[in-house]
Amino acid sequence: MQNEIILSTEELTKKYGNQTSVNQVSLNVRKGRIYGLLGRNGAGKTTIMKMILGLTSVSEGRISVFSQPLKGNARKIYPRIGSIIETPGFYSNLTGTENLQVFARLRGTINKTAIQNALSVVGLPYKDHKTFSSYSLGMKQRLGIANAILNDPEMLILDEPTNGLDPIGIAEIRIFLKKLCHEQGKTILISSHILSEIALLADDIGIIHEGLLLEESTLDQLKKKSEQYILIQAPDTAKASYHLENELGITNYSVEDDQFIRIYDLQKEVSAIGQSFFHAGIHLTHLELCIDNLEDYFKKITGGVGIA
Ligand SMILES: Nc1ncnc2c1ncn2[C@@H]1O[C@H](COP(=O)(O)OP(=O)(O)O)[C@@H](O)[C@H]1O
Ligand SMILES: [Mg+2]
Repeated sequence: MQNEIILSTEELTKKYGNQTSVNQVSLNVRKGRIYGLLGRNGAGKTTIMKMILGLTSVSEGRISVFSQPLKGNARKIYPRIGSIIETPGFYSNLTGTENLQVFARLRGTINKTAIQNALSVVGLPYKDHKTFSSYSLGMKQRLGIANAILNDPEMLILDEPTNGLDPIGIAEIRIFLKKLCHEQGKTILISSHILSEIALLADDIGIIHEGLLLEESTLDQLKKKSEQYILIQAPDTAKASYHLENELGITNYSVEDDQFIRIYDLQKEVSAIGQSFFHAGIHLTHLELCIDNLEDYFKKITGGVGIA
């Protein structure tokens, strides 16, 4: 798992006038993995990606890609990265294949096999007659990805590539991004404001909130942080707490309000706790093992209403 870090930013900052949109972000993307940048709209995801791709200037901080500083090496680095930032400007009166031909020519390479391959990866036909204007949103997004992978780049930077897609379209994109990464060893930096989507796709997650990187960890580590506890509801919490401590030997618990107690000590089975209360004649109105999910965790660390 200790893959080499292939892209990193150090205290990367973007200021627009006196607004700091990206605030000292230090993130680390490892080779051959999918890194999901997760944050609400306006969090700073696009701005981070634009700075990495040289589409907007860096106010402060450093970026390093493929083990070299971006500054001074951009001309060597950028041909090795494919990207989608906002909608690529495809021509509506051309077909998908023709559009890719135009973009390939702009990059100075035109290779029929590369175009065929890129289209087949995203499941679009080669040389059909449908023009871009009659494409569905899903097809447009796929063509964007085909264009990003045309030069067989080592790294992909994709800004919300599934925006506006239906669940089936999202699942399809997820499958081929995973393939690109896990079968072909590509590295992917992808952004999204949808937690459930990132949770199904990413190996590593960076949580961006109001320009700050609040947390960076593997998806597995994040999942472990989601809390487990036993929740009981008792009309008399004083009596219930006394029973917990003196009969069950449980001291790691908190009384939430005048009815609910959360038990963090999970040594005893839920059923054993229930029986013990029942035998002591202490009435419980509710008893349940609760697992806070990632969404709850996200809400907790961003201190707000959370994310879709
Ligand atoms: N060109 C710009 N000029 C001024 N403010 C901008 C510009 N681009 C983005 N911002 C601001 O920077 C913040 C982060 O935006 P953005 O990176 O687009 O967020 P996200 O991609 O996470 O939705 C927002 O408050 C946005 O209004
Ligand atoms: Mg954005």
